[in-house]
Amino acid sequence: MTSAAMEKGTLIVGGGVVGLAVGWMLARRGEPVTLLEKGKTGREASWAAAGMLAPATEVAYQEDLNLMLGLESMRLYPEFVAELQQASGMDVDYRTEGALEVSFCADDTARLRHILGYQQEKNLPVRSLSVTDALEMEPTLSGFLSAAAFCGMDHQVDPRLLTTALKKAYLLAGGVLREDCEVTRFVLEAGRPPAVMAGEERISAKRVLLAAGAWSGSLAGLPDKLRPPVRPVKGQMLSFQMGAIPSLTHFLRVVRVPEIYMVPKSDGRLIVGATVEEMGFDRRLTGGGIYELLKGAWESVPQVYDLPLLETWTGFRPGSRDNAPILGQTAFPGLFVATGHHRNGILTTPATAVHMASLMLEGRPPDILKPFSPDRF
Ligand code: FAD
Ligand code: GLY
Repeated sequence: MTSAAMEKGTLIVGGGVVGLAVGWMLARRGEPVTLLEKGKTGREASWAAAGMLAPATEVAYQEDLNLMLGLESMRLYPEFVAELQQASGMDVDYRTEGALEVSFCADDTARLRHILGYQQEKNLPVRSLSVTDALEMEPTLSGFLSAAAFCGMDHQVDPRLLTTALKKAYLLAGGVLREDCEVTRFVLEAGRPPAVMAGEERISAKRVLLAAGAWSGSLAGLPDKLRPPVRPVKGQMLSFQMGAIPSLTHFLRVVRVPEIYMVPKSDGRLIVGATVEEMGFDRRLTGGGIYELLKGAWESVPQVYDLPLLETWTGFRPGSRDNAPILGQTAFPGLFVATGHHRNGILTTPATAVHMASLMLEGRPPDILKPFSPDRF
């Protein structure tokens, strides 16, 4: 690739769900796009995620901006998935059975009631359920169940299938992908288009999008005022094989206890997550982390005691200072950022892709992106 050829198009740094989705959106609108990924696409946070699309049940007090973006993304999700599945020829296991919030002790019940009050104040469609109704919905829940609520609006997708489909759709739309190609530094010189170094190679483009997930805050060559304040927020996860106990195939909905969540997938995996740890880029699993997940899963669904354990893993959520994504144009002409999606990057992918592509091609930030501007820090 020559620098001159690229100066017409867009260069994306990072091939997680965010870089791939924006890349697909741009490529299908006719933009020449090249994506640089230091390893293989979709193998970091986007691989680690559970895939819950949960603006309502993952709502956090005072994070109204995140709620707004999450609701916008949920609005876009069905069409986004339909178009992606058609473009890629793949199913991404988009499921709409909803989510249960449950508790098994007085402390968690009080917490559940508080959050239910907040969800209802925000007009989110979450309703209190009797214990009998909750056990009818998910008969494998523990008989110690003391309170429950249901949200039909929160859906889920398989994030590993999602990123694989995005990669296919991106390539079929004409996007260029360079895997095992690490961006080692940014080169930002006044009056010249933004550029990056990948080893000895200098690559410049009319537009460069930084979408390197939890690594977005640590790339060389970015002056402090342009550097997105993003850090890795570690999550440990595990999965069970559900089919080993026939009654557990009836586990259909996402189940959330305050400390853990359980997400059943159509291929028979039951994903249990996740820890939330400030441990930098330490990928190691810990006894304490896995213990907490197993304990929470067993207390909620005692039958998991007999289920085969399939996989354990860790991932790094890209967390910003205010927990909201950082989306928009920086003060350096042609340099854009889409990162900081923290706990909800799978949920907010369609909104990020659609609105960032509009901003990058049309030059004006859609109103919805304005509060997420990189210059708010
Ligand atoms: P990533 O997927 O991490 O991608 C960034 C990419 O950039 C990587 O592939 C990396 O290799 C590449 N890169 C980094 N540096 C460079 C470089 N110098 N040069 C080239 N490439 C580079 N969200 C939800 O909505 N629902 C969930 O249920 C959910 N569950 C989660 C559970 C866990 C345990 C974790 C960790 C996250 C979860 N998330 C969830 C959050 C979601 O996974 C992230 O917000 C989202 O995947 C971020 O996507 P990304 O593309 O920004 O980052
Ligand atoms: N959204 C789930 C997680 O980040 O663990």
